[in-house]
Amino acid sequence: HLTETDGCRTCTFGREPSEQGRLMRNICNLECRPDDIFILASPKSGTHWTWEIISMMINGRAETIPKPKIDNMLENQPHDSLAAIPNPRVLNSHLSIDWLPRQMLEKQCRIVFILRNPKDMAVSFYNHVKGIKSYHYQGQWKDFFPFILKGEMEYGSWFTYVREWERFIHDNPNYPIHLMFYEQLIKDYELELRRLATFLGLDLDSGLLAEIADKCRFHNMQKDKALPAELQKTLIKQNFSFFRKGKIGDWKNWFTVAQSEEFDRVYEENMKASSLTFQYN
Ligand code: A3P
Repeated sequence: HLTETDGCRTCTFGREPSEQGRLMRNICNLECRPDDIFILASPKSGTHWTWEIISMMINGRAETIPKPKIDNMLENQPHDSLAAIPNPRVLNSHLSIDWLPRQMLEKQCRIVFILRNPKDMAVSFYNHVKGIKSYHYQGQWKDFFPFILKGEMEYGSWFTYVREWERFIHDNPNYPIHLMFYEQLIKDYELELRRLATFLGLDLDSGLLAEIADKCRFHNMQKDKALPAELQKTLIKQNFSFFRKGKIGDWKNWFTVAQSEEFDRVYEENMKASSLTFQYN
């Protein structure tokens, strides 16, 4: 499922690949609680942002969450660490349905599913793979681009992932899943936060929502959620940040016209049965 492409390796979070494999295969057995909240998204779609927002909503305080999102990430944490998180847990993952805990669906845990236009996702992914030392990726954007089209990247194809969840939503109309678009979150921030709080069953006053919105703005998170200096040095290259640009439309600075046309063609091929539409500007 996780692919190893030319020099663009799957991130094993510093674990031996076999140990990471064991951890991954056991995720489907994770014990879930009915009030667990799952944030699911393809990588680089706004998971850190959403995790911070929801965690603050749950805490009822517009205060930076002291721990990183990765501490609540299914593919990063052993079960005993996840079990130690108090209710309600705000978990997150980029894995496709088959890999996720069976109990998540059985117990009808709430899912917040984030989508982002795939051209910006692709550029963000490229910068992520280039910027994190453990990937050892040396390629240029032009070298990385074909992997995106073929879906030969960490976590597999974006097209397959998104279509799978779209089908799930279609086939399970009563399942508590909330779709949130990155672009909509940028454009209509407070309204989107209100919709999110309603989905989570949280009665938050508009003053608190506005404070959370502000605390989670890109530049505040870039400052407040910066990695500790030591980790920064060992984990990532000098000019990279997990809070890189935070914009809609950066893809235009990277895609050539030919690449954009090719992408549109592959999108058409893979998404012809989809009713999703994405904003690219
Ligand atoms: P860019 O690389 O385009 O800047 P994820 O958290 O799923 O890995 O997604 C990462 C993307 O979300 C990055 O996109 C990052 O900058 C962006 N992001 C993170 N926090 C954000 C915020 N508060 N507002 C807007 N974008 C944010």
